Amino acid sequence: MKDIFQKCTTDGGYFGVLRAQGDHYFTRPILNGLPGPRMEFLGKEKIMWSVNNYLGLANNEEVKKAAMEALETYSVSAPMGSRMMSGNTDEHIALEKRLAAFEQKEDAILFNYGYMGVVGTIDSLTDTDDVILMDKLAHACIVDGSMASRGQVRVFRHNDMNSLEMVLKRVTRDCKGGVLVVTEGTYGMTGDLAPLKEICELKDKYGARLFCDDAHGIGVMGKTGMGTGEYFGVQDKIDIYFGTFAKSFAAIGGFSATRKDAVEWIKYNARTQVFAKSMPMVFVKAVGKTLDLIIHGDERRKKVWEIAGKLKKGLKELGYYIGTGESPLCSVFIPLGDGDVHKIGGGMVHYLRENGVFVSAVIYPVIPLGLCMFRMVPSASHTDADVEETVAVFKKMREDLNLNLKMGDDEIGKINKVYGK
Ligand SMILES: Cc1ncc(COP(=O)(O)O)c(C=O)c1O
Repeated sequence: MKDIFQKCTTDGGYFGVLRAQGDHYFTRPILNGLPGPRMEFLGKEKIMWSVNNYLGLANNEEVKKAAMEALETYSVSAPMGSRMMSGNTDEHIALEKRLAAFEQKEDAILFNYGYMGVVGTIDSLTDTDDVILMDKLAHACIVDGSMASRGQVRVFRHNDMNSLEMVLKRVTRDCKGGVLVVTEGTYGMTGDLAPLKEICELKDKYGARLFCDDAHGIGVMGKTGMGTGEYFGVQDKIDIYFGTFAKSFAAIGGFSATRKDAVEWIKYNARTQVFAKSMPMVFVKAVGKTLDLIIHGDERRKKVWEIAGKLKKGLKELGYYIGTGESPLCSVFIPLGDGDVHKIGGGMVHYLRENGVFVSAVIYPVIPLGLCMFRMVPSASHTDADVEETVAVFKKMREDLNLNLKMGDDEIGKINKVYGK
């Protein structure tokens, strides 16, 4: 028998390879100050492109006031206990009704974290005879929710409708239970959108249900910010809509919105909610205020799209390859040839950070070997000056590091594959 701690001294674990590059620089970087377009990293101000504050609502004064009032009234403790036992309030229920109305669903259920919401919803709705059919690029919480469930898990190629139909055909032939198709709405890593119209047609054709994790779409996508379902005109076809408060809402928590009986079911079966303390009142009240701002958020939505457009255009003109995602998220791909992903990718991240621009890099296995991707998150609080300064640093990096930005057919093929094309 081994000591359970033995691995801790010898092995970095799953992300351990990153740890070796320097804890608190590349991984777990310490960022001080309020989340916003400029933050402090290692004692110096950087232009921040790594926080998902899409609508610039972090530090909004109205939200802060709502939270302060709630703090005065309820302290940090209220409510105590899980919703099932002693943690339910009129305020929680009222927020759920408002979220359901915003998403045009019959009802909604709150979760303390988006992660817990996805895991709890998928796990509670599926059992041994059911099949969970998820997109290959689905977020870790979708994978974990599927693992927590006793349902059978199948995967289809990212955004590939032939692959989805092939698996649907196969599983619906043999399946004794139901089929839950699970996708993101707007993909948080690559910024591309799930083809929800086609997915809805297919899930209807085969009698399956669709769970759409729209963590990165809510607030930003669609005319009224309802999300990616609204953007494609299929919000009513999404069976379970999921949103987090950790991104556009700039708070914490999340919710699933669906038909009334399904919400009732989740309420009594989602272990991540039944066995966890309910959402603190400070957040319930703050999120309620943020929802008002999102509902009336046309200007902020316009601004984030404008900033995204300018950033993408500026980098593209320098010769950087910008991913084809249709959301504001800006994915910058760099060809690495046979070069060491960690060394070259890390070198670029280091260059950018030391020159005042904070970005995060995505590498293999999230994207194929031979490529490095900067995932840049524009927000409504960025200014034109932030964009111009950032583009200037990317220009200098291209020259100082002598970057060869030219993409060969091989690399283009790999990127297309990332986008399911
Ligand atoms: C697609 C997606 N779903 C769910 C989550 C989890 O949300 P939260 O951070 O609110 O737990 C995230 C967060 O990264 C996400 O990107």
